[in-house]
Amino acid sequence: MTVTIVGAQLGDEGKGGIVDVFGESADVVARYQGGDNAGHTVVHGGETYKLSLVPSGAVRGKVGVLGNGCVVNPATLFDELDDLHEQGLDPDVRVAERAHVIMPYHRILDNLEEDVRSDDDLKVGTTGRGIGPTYEDKAGRRGVRVGDLLDAEVLRDRLEYVIPQKRRLIEEVYEIDLDAVDLAFDGFTAAEAFDTDAVLEQYRAYGERLDEEGMTVVAGEFLADSIDDGEQVMLEGAQGTLLDIDHGNFPYVTSSNPTAGYAATGSGLGVTTVGDGEVVGVVKGYLSRVGTGPMPTELGPSEGGHGVDAGEQSAATGSDPTPEDLASYIREEGGEYGTVTGRPRRVGWLDLPMLRHAARASGFTGFAVNHVDVLAGLETVKVGDSYELDGEKIETIPSTTERWADCEPTFRSFDGWPEADWSAVAAEGYEALPENARTYLEYVAEQIDTPLYAVGLGPEREQTVVLEHPFE
Ligand code: IMP
Repeated sequence: MTVTIVGAQLGDEGKGGIVDVFGESADVVARYQGGDNAGHTVVHGGETYKLSLVPSGAVRGKVGVLGNGCVVNPATLFDELDDLHEQGLDPDVRVAERAHVIMPYHRILDNLEEDVRSDDDLKVGTTGRGIGPTYEDKAGRRGVRVGDLLDAEVLRDRLEYVIPQKRRLIEEVYEIDLDAVDLAFDGFTAAEAFDTDAVLEQYRAYGERLDEEGMTVVAGEFLADSIDDGEQVMLEGAQGTLLDIDHGNFPYVTSSNPTAGYAATGSGLGVTTVGDGEVVGVVKGYLSRVGTGPMPTELGPSEGGHGVDAGEQSAATGSDPTPEDLASYIREEGGEYGTVTGRPRRVGWLDLPMLRHAARASGFTGFAVNHVDVLAGLETVKVGDSYELDGEKIETIPSTTERWADCEPTFRSFDGWPEADWSAVAAEGYEALPENARTYLEYVAEQIDTPLYAVGLGPEREQTVVLEHPFE
């Protein structure tokens, strides 16, 4: 069977930890969309593994697959694999021949286009990894696929077609002199990134390594064969529902579909196969956001660096904290800094209209709530229960970003819960959670009409309480 893991919010819900816990029963962990814009942190046996492309299950000795719906930067892929080897692991990672390749010119374009957009106040705040331009080329039928890296002639044909177009876009439309662009990615200066011979040489070398290491597969066949052999497959979504290009808050979205429907398209499995399995939404007990866009339940601003002093800490846990105190406290306790970019994340209360939307769009059969420990110590914990828009109460999010930005949240307050020895609580099970935390979690489950499968109380695998295991 399959279990699909989907971010219910704006990414960074702690999906890696849930994939790790439930993935223990899986034989194969496959990603179906996105690329190295996704930051996963997996903590295991005291070691921290920071991954942005390799499926997090690979840390656990599972076969990791990057499905055809992913965009793959080979430089990142091989860097991560080399780092994992250095950490003593020997991961088995396969890459779909139909997946599209992030080329150096995509990364230059992503960064230059963000600059162009910032003049027009349309900046998305992308991770700068070339994700959008690569998916654009896929839809525009001028992309380079992993399978193309395996054949020098095909690769040359593709590059000779696309690179001159990209060069003209930069020089003639954006009127930027590439020689004067002070950007360099994956060993390429801006000018080299648009040099067909230089790109061909390096990307052919990546193709040879993929070939020599037997890493390329027809992902759908590979996964279907695994299922036929009685293996368990986990489909690991990256980013989150509100970053989905169809179901998120356009245009402040990523360029793929994190929601569960794409788990079929982006893995090559049939919808009936994916639909026969489970779909688990992952929620963080509050909300965080990297990048631009509305966030009705947002607390204070995200400026400033690391470090909350003792005064600020007690202000947040006192009886009358300001939104800014609460935001700094949660940001610090939850380590809310981008895994890929290091940027401080915006922080807010849990937003139920968002979760209702996510549960419907992906058809969650269960959900997990992470970071419940982070909220401990606060006197009051709030959730955005519904919104008010034009004097009317609404319970899910409007379809346009502008209307969403006009929504005023109506909050419901819960009594907070104290700090605890979370490892001991996790070892004892759900009933050992503070009663107020259980009240909070059960309210959310009722509101989104979805059973609670797991509660995360810390980054270690042993700090997650499992109520129901989707593979069992
Ligand atoms: P892109 O995916 O780099 O094109 O970025 C598009 C938007 O998605 C930006 O707002 C990013 O901050 C956001 N984003 C992309 N990947 C992640 C992620 O893994 N976590 C949180 N936000 C993300």
